[in-house]
Amino acid sequence: MTEKRTSIHGQWTSRTVFILAATGSAVGLGNIWKFPYITGENGGGTFVLVYLLCIALIGVPIMMAEIMLGRRGKQSPINTMLALAKDEHRNPGWVWLGWMGVAAGFLILSYYSVIAGWAMSYVFRTGGGMFLGITADGANSIFAALVGDPERLLAWHTIFMLITMMVVARGVKNGLEKAVTLLMPLLFALLIVIVIYAMTTGYFMEGVRFLFTPGTIDGKGILTAMGHAFFTLSLGMGAIMVYGSYLSEEYSIVQASILIALADTVVALLAGLAIFPIVFANGLEPGAGPGLIFQTLPIAFGHMQGGTLVGVVFFTLLMFAAWTSAISLIEPAVAYLVENKGVNRIYASVWIGGLTWFVGLGTVFSFNIWKDKTLSIPYLFENKTFFDTLDYLTANIMLPLGGLFIALFAAWVMREQSTKDEMKTYPFIYKTWRFLVRFITPVAVIIVFLKAVDAI
Ligand code: PFF
Repeated sequence: MTEKRTSIHGQWTSRTVFILAATGSAVGLGNIWKFPYITGENGGGTFVLVYLLCIALIGVPIMMAEIMLGRRGKQSPINTMLALAKDEHRNPGWVWLGWMGVAAGFLILSYYSVIAGWAMSYVFRTGGGMFLGITADGANSIFAALVGDPERLLAWHTIFMLITMMVVARGVKNGLEKAVTLLMPLLFALLIVIVIYAMTTGYFMEGVRFLFTPGTIDGKGILTAMGHAFFTLSLGMGAIMVYGSYLSEEYSIVQASILIALADTVVALLAGLAIFPIVFANGLEPGAGPGLIFQTLPIAFGHMQGGTLVGVVFFTLLMFAAWTSAISLIEPAVAYLVENKGVNRIYASVWIGGLTWFVGLGTVFSFNIWKDKTLSIPYLFENKTFFDTLDYLTANIMLPLGGLFIALFAAWVMREQSTKDEMKTYPFIYKTWRFLVRFITPVAVIIVFLKAVDAI
């Protein structure tokens, strides 16, 4: 069946808006907060190389598949998977893939919101002049005081969830289109300002060497790099699929995917180039963990000309970048409730946002009163806090698994003609994409999974 569907949630007004919204989803805390700290924890160069390979060979083809499925299904990921499986006369059981995506988005948002809260609180810390002339020790203790205080974290987490719910309730288009058009380019410009500062520290080349000189990596590091490729491109859980469902027929999926992946990668690399020189110049530990950017960037803001202003604007933009990603994390679930339960967007956002907020309490406490409560799952991980566990399960397991099955569905379950109709691209590009999603992408994901459990 190839009858054309339309989305009941509306459509992006132009291709540019879709690209901006999808880039808004992709560029977020993953690029600026997570990429540097996991690169630091995994030793730099080789990790970055594996991550870049995963973006190119796994991420980009899956992004094309995800947008394609969304645009063809025109509904929330759950209903899209159901509809497409039926179109192709396949088992409707594929719907579970949509459900897993919704679950992953929900879990990711629960901790994402807490970390976005850190960025918000840093707007005020920087603005209040707290970092003027600060030392590395000073920056460390300010960060430790913040995360050690559950009430404060809770307050910021609550504010962030509320503003996310507000935009989602208004509808992705109205809320989001305006926000991203201006803010994304500005964030980019500010990152460049910080990189320029990093060049003046005298340790710039050390940062570059750390990021780009190959060293060693283990199976777990490879899994983290691959998981991050999914996380940073918002793949494997239906966020990009749901955005694809608001995309009109005539736009090129291939071109859009490449643009989004490029923008996302450049932002992550810029963040790395901004942060590591500051780490080395101040004798900090690259593997310091989730606090890394909050312990390093204040030093830059406390010492550069006009640093207070740059810092305030930077953390504000980081908050916006997190916001535009958070919206896409919750959208699949909201779209589903609107489609299946006949509720309006406001009601759906309040319910899902409220539940997410509640689960987020676990992350709030992971940094203070539950700091020592850890979990181990044989073969998977050891001694992880609530936050670390959620992060690991979502980014390293659920997203790659979701992405793997999206690739398998697009490449093996759908008829070739259906995907060809939807991709509308040159035969050579179509063939390359199809080869990648049929063979390279699934095999690569499976090898990485097996390596991580030391099975090969
Ligand atoms: N890509 C976002 C980031 O890098 O911060 C996080 C994210 C958004 C992950 C949406 C997954 C998702 F579906």
